[in-house]
Amino acid sequence: MAKEHLIIFDTTLRDGEQSPGASMTREEKVRIARQLEKMRVDVIEAGFPAASNGDFEAVRAVAEAIKESTVAALCRTNDKDIARALEAIKPARSGRIHTFIATSAIHMEKKLRMSPDEVVTAAVNAVRYARNGTDNIEFSPEDAGRSELDFLCRIIEAVIKEGATVINIPDTVGYNVPEQFADRIRSLRSRIPNSDKVIWSVHCHNDLGLAVANSLAAVMAGARQVECTINGLGERAGNTALEEIVMAVRTRQDIFPCDTRIDTTLILSASKMISSITGFPVQPNKAIVGANAFSHEAGIHQDGVLKHRETYEIMRAEDVGWNANKLVLGKHSGRTAFKARLKELGTEADSEQVLNAAFARFKELADKKHDIFDEDLHALMSDEAVTPEHEHYRLVYSRFHSETGETPTAQITLTVGGAEQQATADGSGPVDAAFKAIESVAQSGADLLLYSVNAITTGTDAQGEVTVRLSKEGRIVNGQGSDTDIVVASAKAYLNALNKLQSTLERVNPQV
Ligand code: KIV
Ligand code: ZN
Repeated sequence: MAKEHLIIFDTTLRDGEQSPGASMTREEKVRIARQLEKMRVDVIEAGFPAASNGDFEAVRAVAEAIKESTVAALCRTNDKDIARALEAIKPARSGRIHTFIATSAIHMEKKLRMSPDEVVTAAVNAVRYARNGTDNIEFSPEDAGRSELDFLCRIIEAVIKEGATVINIPDTVGYNVPEQFADRIRSLRSRIPNSDKVIWSVHCHNDLGLAVANSLAAVMAGARQVECTINGLGERAGNTALEEIVMAVRTRQDIFPCDTRIDTTLILSASKMISSITGFPVQPNKAIVGANAFSHEAGIHQDGVLKHRETYEIMRAEDVGWNANKLVLGKHSGRTAFKARLKELGTEADSEQVLNAAFARFKELADKKHDIFDEDLHALMSDEAVTPEHEHYRLVYSRFHSETGETPTAQITLTVGGAEQQATADGSGPVDAAFKAIESVAQSGADLLLYSVNAITTGTDAQGEVTVRLSKEGRIVNGQGSDTDIVVASAKAYLNALNKLQSTLERVNPQV
């Protein structure tokens, strides 16, 4: 029997962006959207146009660029938000309005200060208004996971009558557990008389680590759209991880009545791209995309896998993009091969200028490091994606000194808005000294919230990828830098974060 289609709705660009410091520029959003389209994601939620002009422009740019996926825009249930969202998705070949209002007693009373009747009226009016611009309308009763079932039935029946085509049930605070969440979906579908007119969707947060389990339970109960993000990025503990949903359904076709149309071989490159753009590293033991997801440590396991792979492996690493192309380029690779590989990785340069700069960096790297892997190219492209107009601070020269019994020192030269400045500083280590030297020039006064180093590939010649999270006046940004010298990588990451703080392109978190 033919399987039903499970719609993958990716909200990395909207809910994912609400992770601390994960905000993206318009160019970054378009790059990610192109990768999602290539993966055959059905719906890409590009942002919240009413949140800021930057986000409006980003949603519009995604709507212009994307041809094969539906582009959704989030909005509250007021005319102004909806008009803005409609305007943003206008260029899309297929666009969707996603409107939401909270329906739990606690949200209605304490946050919205609206009565249940007022909430129903707002939701119905919103769907009616949105229908002036599109007939692809998704409605989400926010905090549905804690909303009273009778009230949910009432509001959902009313918005379906008004023309909503997708009903999304969010477990906004990640409170539900699988059996109960599945029951909720089943009850809504059976109690609401016009429930068969819409697609049922779920949107689960991961506060109890149950987002994927809850979403899969909901699929068993009839949901045919799952909202998710690459790497499970999202508010607080994150969202449902796209890669886990897709691979669970694909691997367990013996029990799921549906399947997705995702090209799973592009999952890993999407994961790397999101991680390098947002500055959120992927934990090594993360399912599907973690560095250790397919490596076997125990002797018994290794022995079993060598004898017969399926003794310990339920999926093939290459099916999600691992090892597909381990060694890609080297010192003698030309510009054409370089460009072609970037295209295959879905991380093409936006202009000839960026391509030339990236190629020059690639050659530099190939001089220091014999084998250039896909991971190196992703890191290199995220460095080059920073165009000069977004780069207020740039590292020109650095020299670090560290010796047993001596205080480490850093000497750096930066350009600040195009003009060169120099500084030296001591520190408890060379990284500390480098940051102090940079700060003595930038005087940002930002607080350092996180500093982490990851090896991008294996081997001691690997590039170190450094993440720096800075906070200033309520704004949080993540900076990343990569280099074979981890102190240089650290300085680059610090400057990348400072550039983000400086940039007017940075959007505010829509929940603020
Ligand atoms: O978590 C949530 O409730 C949301 C809605 C806007 C769908 O993100
Ligand atoms: Zn959410």
